[in-house]
Amino acid sequence: MSAGRIKDIANIQKLGHIEFRTTDLERARDFYVNLIGLHETARDDNRVYLRCTEDRQHHTFVLRRADAAGVGTIGFRVASDDDLERMKLRFEELGLPVRWAGNDMLGQGRTLRVQDPLGFTIDYYAEIATVPWLVQSYHLHKGVSPTRIDHVNVLTPDAQAGYDWYTQELGFGCAEYTESEPPDTRIWASWLFRKATVHDIAVMTGAGPAAHHVGFSLPEPMGIIRACDMLAGAGYADNLERGPARHGISNALFVYVRDPDGNRFELYTGDYLTGDTSAEPIRWSLNNPVRQTFWGAPPPRRWFEESMAVETFDGSALQQTKPPLLPPVPNYVLD
Ligand SMILES: [Fe+2]
Repeated sequence: MSAGRIKDIANIQKLGHIEFRTTDLERARDFYVNLIGLHETARDDNRVYLRCTEDRQHHTFVLRRADAAGVGTIGFRVASDDDLERMKLRFEELGLPVRWAGNDMLGQGRTLRVQDPLGFTIDYYAEIATVPWLVQSYHLHKGVSPTRIDHVNVLTPDAQAGYDWYTQELGFGCAEYTESEPPDTRIWASWLFRKATVHDIAVMTGAGPAAHHVGFSLPEPMGIIRACDMLAGAGYADNLERGPARHGISNALFVYVRDPDGNRFELYTGDYLTGDTSAEPIRWSLNNPVRQTFWGAPPPRRWFEESMAVETFDGSALQQTKPPLLPPVPNYVLD
């Protein structure tokens, strides 16, 4: 008997955490805590556990000592431990690699690890230690004081399949999407949510499986400018990769930054509420460059061509990527 689709048997709540691999844990900690303004909850021999001011859970962003940069675990929270049992049955029914992941993450409860059909290793958990809310602990705010981990953006050779997986199997809503024109009409990228904002995850066409960036939300627009000033002041002007500018998709004001390991994150503010399931997703044609940049300079070539490797299911190595099914975007003209 079928276990039923995840959207019918379990309740995914939000993006839980992202783990960045770093070759220099102290340098990475100093960058994210003292310059960007994340808050350290705990540390162990190999990891530093961080969170933002609104985050009520033990960690939403983790730095892990590794021999190369890239992304470690990508975690989503579900409502209850019972959800995990039902999800395990469903993943087994689909023939996906799945196992209990053990508990080597401080503060995090029982964790179900699956390799999804896109090739990403995803952790699901319900229980995680709660920590003090820091929104009004203004005396502790530093840097640009991100409010929450907002989203992760990933690359996969077949973004239509990624859209289908997240919406049909896992029950994500779609806020916006880009689509190629007839006769080969396909989803090129989609912005998918469980919490009521534009996205918890964006799935884009590209060489994959790989991660493009993690997005942190800032409380107000001047935070983007302040981030640029602070990063430049600290010697990281060349790490400001794209922006400040405003996206068409999501309406967010943003800047993309490469950290000292070369991992990419986005500082992001000004998107909008979703959650009204009667609202039609916003469609963007691939021929419309406004989708990427409402205003601001076009992205540099490396923004399109460079990504972060993700780990294999057993965590022993970084994955090789496969090329995208679709040709490059028509307006990807940068020279
Ligand atoms: Fe983003």
